[in-house]
Amino acid sequence: MSKALDPKDTCVLVTGGAGFIGSHTVVQLLEGGYQVVVVDDLSNSSAVAIDRVKTIVGDEAAKNLTFYEANVLDRDAMNKIFDTHQIDRVIHFAGFKAVGESVSKPVEYYHNNIENTLVLIDVMRNHGCKSIIFSSSSTVYGDPDNPPVTEEDPKKPATTPMVGPSG
Ligand SMILES: NC(=O)c1ccc[n+]([C@@H]2O[C@H](COP(=O)([O-])OP(=O)(O)OC[C@H]3O[C@@H](n4cnc5c(N)ncnc54)[C@H](O)[C@@H]3O)[C@@H](O)[C@H]2O)c1
Repeated sequence: MSKALDPKDTCVLVTGGAGFIGSHTVVQLLEGGYQVVVVDDLSNSSAVAIDRVKTIVGDEAAKNLTFYEANVLDRDAMNKIFDTHQIDRVIHFAGFKAVGESVSKPVEYYHNNIENTLVLIDVMRNHGCKSIIFSSSSTVYGDPDNPPVTEEDPKKPATTPMVGPSG
């Protein structure tokens, strides 16, 4: 993160925030006092996850959560969200992540995972938002020599098309 801000003054956009890792991250952020905006197209999740997040954090913290059902590929929708909220940080989880399916549908995976990241960082740039955490995958370490891998381990050529926020 570029500059320390008080959580209550920090708006974090979580893409894919209704998904598995995203929804847990949103809970942590809300419990930490952050303002949170979630963008998720619900292609692999349900709005029920957002309701459950609200239940877990309670009414007071839930007031700091705004959910948009939208696709990160939808530049107009993303521009409107960045126009509406002063987004300070982005955590990018939105992507397809099934290893097997990425092999059978490589074009769909490249389209969603790479293009949505390009749209996101372009909209961020146009709104002066320079802070992003990109959710990668251990896939980038290939078949590791000394598991478990650490961030210091060498990257290896990807063995599947699971790229973008998914690797
Ligand atoms: N699950 C793991 O063990 C694990 C481990 C390491 C990294 N990751 C990475 O973390 C990220 C999230 O993984 P997850 O397990 O939470 O997956 P998930 O499928 O549960 O969550 C991804 C969310 O993104 C949404 N989404 C997909 N494409 C979108 C788009 N274009 N616009 C808006 N929303 C979109 C889906 O509806 C879903 O809610 C992925 O990039 C994954 O590769 C996951």
